[in-house]
Amino acid sequence: MEALHLTILFLFSLTMVHSLAPNCDLTSHGPTLRVYHVSSPCSPFRSKVSLSWEESVLQMQADDKTRLVYLTSLVAGRSFVPVTSGRQVIQSPTYIVKAKIGTPAQSLLMALDTSTDMALVPCAGCVGCSSVTYDSAKSASFSSLSCGADQCKQVQSSSCLGTTCSVNTTYGGSIVTANLARDNVTLATDPITGYSFGCIQKVTGGSFPAQGVLGLGRGPLSYASQTKSLYASTFSYCLPSFKSPNFSGTLRLGPVGQPNIINYTPLLVNPKRPSLYYVNLIGIQVGSTIVNIPPSALAFNPNTGGGTIVDSGTVFTRLVTEAYTAVRNEFRKRMGPATLSSLGGFDTCYADVAIGKQVPSITFMFPGINMTLPQDNFLIHSSAGSTTCLAMSAAPALNVIANMQQQNHRVVFDVPNSRLGISREACS
Ligand SMILES: *[C@@H]1O[C@H](CO)[C@@H](O)[C@H](O)[C@H]1NC(C)=O
Ligand SMILES: *[C@@H]1O[C@H](CO)[C@@H](O)[C@H](O)[C@H]1NC(C)=O
Ligand SMILES: *[C@@H]1O[C@H](CO)[C@@H](O)[C@H](O)[C@H]1NC(C)=O
Ligand SMILES: *[C@@H]1O[C@H](CO)[C@@H](O)[C@H](O)[C@H]1NC(C)=O
Repeated sequence: MEALHLTILFLFSLTMVHSLAPNCDLTSHGPTLRVYHVSSPCSPFRSKVSLSWEESVLQMQADDKTRLVYLTSLVAGRSFVPVTSGRQVIQSPTYIVKAKIGTPAQSLLMALDTSTDMALVPCAGCVGCSSVTYDSAKSASFSSLSCGADQCKQVQSSSCLGTTCSVNTTYGGSIVTANLARDNVTLATDPITGYSFGCIQKVTGGSFPAQGVLGLGRGPLSYASQTKSLYASTFSYCLPSFKSPNFSGTLRLGPVGQPNIINYTPLLVNPKRPSLYYVNLIGIQVGSTIVNIPPSALAFNPNTGGGTIVDSGTVFTRLVTEAYTAVRNEFRKRMGPATLSSLGGFDTCYADVAIGKQVPSITFMFPGINMTLPQDNFLIHSSAGSTTCLAMSAAPALNVIANMQQQNHRVVFDVPNSRLGISREACS
């Protein structure tokens, strides 16, 4: 089969980017640290196998499918959900940062996840983890957390193993068993003393990130909550494009250094899924048309958990079926009579047409922000130019503003002021 060379294939076929000598310096500057795409030339997790474009897109769609099941399963009072069987997924979260744990420091490249709270760290002796782990026996500042600890009460489905607080949880399509522990954790330059996390004893299933997950959600055990006195539960990121040779963006911790000129929209808390960052998506504009979407498809609903979240771990934006259909129909109308094709979950692809001026803009409308996406944030193309797809798809119950749509934007999570800021920033 002829391998299609697609820009996005950079993700999986890296021989061509090695020669560009990427800058893989992961050191942080003040409270700002580097963020890498998991398949960046700087990432040890990049796939060694070269996939065709179709295969790579289908793989990312499969990861997203598992991610969506995971996100919709995050219901208050329940942390353990049945894991769906199906296609083996490799990795859901897409961006990694370097964390140093313990004294002396041990480094891990952890996946950034705005929809997870407790950090999950692969610990030495873990069954099912990769070879890079954190060895608590080598850390002078490690301690385990007992069943009586407040942190133990803050996680759902915790139980006692002797005196140690043990947790079973799901992550994507994986089941994780961990003991609650504390140690110093340093992300940027400031060490956080006695940071509580899950020290993983066992993992099953293929979707757990190799060197752990750093949760930046809204719950009490997330990084944003545990570092509140230092960083005031405020952080921002700029996620680099898949296409960039050095694939580097930044995670900036704390209110200092956040953009002065940026538009904000209110953050909402949905009691049904309290860890997630909800916003109010009030409309979507395609070209000059504000698409006619039934209000129920976008509505924030505390009873069902419905509404719109901003997530760092889903790749392609999902819209509730009625919203997606309306957006797609308007998009197709503006693309004119070109021949449609599909690719997995993408139903609006064009083969062998020159994609040019007829491509309409797409704007997500929030109170206070109109986020007009550059084409790179909603179209994926083969580098040969032969196929282009609208990189969004339908979802049953939750709208997710995903990471492809956020790339090359500064996204500020300002929890104390209950607002989310978005502005364009080139960080690839
Ligand atoms: C870790 O925390 C301990 C206190 O528990 C402190 O004495 C030590 O200096 C810290 N280590 C680092 C590397 O920050
Ligand atoms: C976690 O699951 C395993 C196997 O499914 C079980 O043996 C163990 O008791 C569970 N632990 C907790 C804390 O629920
Ligand atoms: C990324 O690479 C480009 C050129 O390849 C360079 O100009 C840019 O400074 C690099 N960005 C970072 C953050 O290293
Ligand atoms: C967004 O665009 C709509 C329609 O073009 C306009 O009515 C609205 O005022 C804009 N909102 C902001 C925050 O700029």
